[in-house]
Amino acid sequence: MDAIWIEGNRTLSGEVTVQGSKNAALPVLAATLLVPGVTRLLNCPEISDVSCMCEILRHMGARVERRGKEVTVDASELTGCRILPEHAVRMRSSVILAGALLGRCREAFFFQPGGCVIGDRPIDMHLWALGRLGVFFSGREGEIRAQALRLRGAFVRLPFPSVGVTQNAVLAAVGAEGTTRLTNCAREPEIGALCRFLRGAGADVREEGGGEIRVEGGRPLHASTFWIDADRIVAGTYLAGVLAAGGKAFLRQAPWYELKAALKAARRMGAVVRTESHGLYVERTGRLLSPGELVTGVYPAFPTDLQSPFLAAMCLAEGKSSIRERIFNGRFGVAGQLNRMGADIRIGGDRAFVPGGRRLSGCRVAAGELRGGAALTVAGLCAQGRTVVENCHFIRRGYEDIVRDLKELGADIGNETEVPPDEGRQV
Ligand code: EPZ
Repeated sequence: MDAIWIEGNRTLSGEVTVQGSKNAALPVLAATLLVPGVTRLLNCPEISDVSCMCEILRHMGARVERRGKEVTVDASELTGCRILPEHAVRMRSSVILAGALLGRCREAFFFQPGGCVIGDRPIDMHLWALGRLGVFFSGREGEIRAQALRLRGAFVRLPFPSVGVTQNAVLAAVGAEGTTRLTNCAREPEIGALCRFLRGAGADVREEGGGEIRVEGGRPLHASTFWIDADRIVAGTYLAGVLAAGGKAFLRQAPWYELKAALKAARRMGAVVRTESHGLYVERTGRLLSPGELVTGVYPAFPTDLQSPFLAAMCLAEGKSSIRERIFNGRFGVAGQLNRMGADIRIGGDRAFVPGGRRLSGCRVAAGELRGGAALTVAGLCAQGRTVVENCHFIRRGYEDIVRDLKELGADIGNETEVPPDEGRQV
C-alpha cells in the first residue's frame, strides 16, 4: 500500500496539462470491440482503469498495445464474450462492455457488480434498455448471460438519463438491425465523445439534441484514429485545489466549457476564473467564501464527481455551506476522514453540512474510493502540517499522477512508497 504525503498551508502557483478523460476513454475502449479492425486512441490517460479495460479487451481476444498515451486495439478476431468476475469487481463500468459484445457477437456474459463505496450501483436500467433491443437474459451464481437471436432497433425512452445505460444502449444499437431512437439520454460530454468516435468508425449515430440519440444500426465499421479530450473532472479537482490552497494556476487543455456549474461555484467562493482557448486560468488570493448550497445533478448541473473535492475546499471557506448529493446514495464517505482533520462535517440524508472556517490539521488519512482520495489530497494542500493519504491505488484509477501534477502547481507533495518487505532475504 503506498501513500502520498503533503506539506500543507502553501499557496499554489504554476501550470499543468490536464490528462485525457477517464470517463471518455473507457466507453470508447469498450466500443472498439464493435470494430473488426484496428482502432488507434491518442491522449488516452495512463490510469489503472484503462489498464483494467485493456486486460478485458485482451481477454476477449483483441490485440491491445499501449505506448504511453497511445492505445491500439485490433478487434478483428474476438475469441470470447465473457467478462471475468475479477474484472467486474474492479470496475463497475465494465457493464458497458455488454452492449458492445451484444452488438458484435449477439452474446455477453457479465456480472452484477456489487455495491460500491459511493452507493448502490444497480444495473436494472441497463438490462431493461438492452431488453428493449431484443436481448434475453438468464443466469446462475451471479453471472448474467445476455443473448440476442436478433438485435433489432427500437424506440427506447430511458427512465433516467444514466450515463452508462445511454452508452450501453448506443453500443448495442450500432450492432442492431434498423433504427433505434433513444430519448431522455444522458448529456454528459462523454456521451458526445462516444458518438463522435462511433461516427468516425463509420456508424450512423446522430445526437438530435434534447437528450435524443438516433442510431441506424448495421453499418460496417472500420479502422479509425481518435483523440481523447481532456478530463473535466481532473481539471475540476485541480480547480478545487487552488480554491483550498489559494494562489493561481493555469490548467492547460482544461475543458472549461464542460465545467460551467463548477466555475460558477468557484466564482461564488471568491476565485477569479478566466477561460482561454487553450485552457483555464484560476486564482484565489482573497478570502475563501462559502458557496451556500451546492446541488449535484445530471449534466450540466454540478457534477457528482466533483462533490468530494469541493467538499474539502468548503471546509476552509468562511461561513457555513452544504452539498446535496442527488446522484449516488452513499457518496459522503470522505467526510469521516475530513473530520479527522478537523472539518466537523455533519451528514443529514442526502446533504453534507459544512460549518466552514476551519483550519484543517494534517494527519494520516485513508482514501476509500477514487474521488474521495482526490478530495483528501486537496484537503492536505491547505491543512496545517503534514497529511498522509493512504490507499492511493484508488486515486490512480482516475488520475495519471496527482503528485506530478500538483508538484507542477507548486505543491510540497510526494509519494511515500513503503520500502517493499525485503523478500527472499537469505536467513
Ligand atoms: C458514470 O457512472 C461515471 N463513470 C461516474 O464517474 C459518474 O459519477 C456517473 O456516470 C454520473 O455522472 C464512468 O463514466 C465510468 P449513472 P454510471 O448510470 O454510468 C443509478 C468517477 O468517479 N442507476 O449515470 O455508473 C445509479 O445507481 C465515476 O469517475 C440505476 O439505478 O452512472 C446512480 O444512482 C464514479 N440503475 C445513477 O443511476 C442502473 O441500471 C447515475 O448513475 C444504472 C444506474
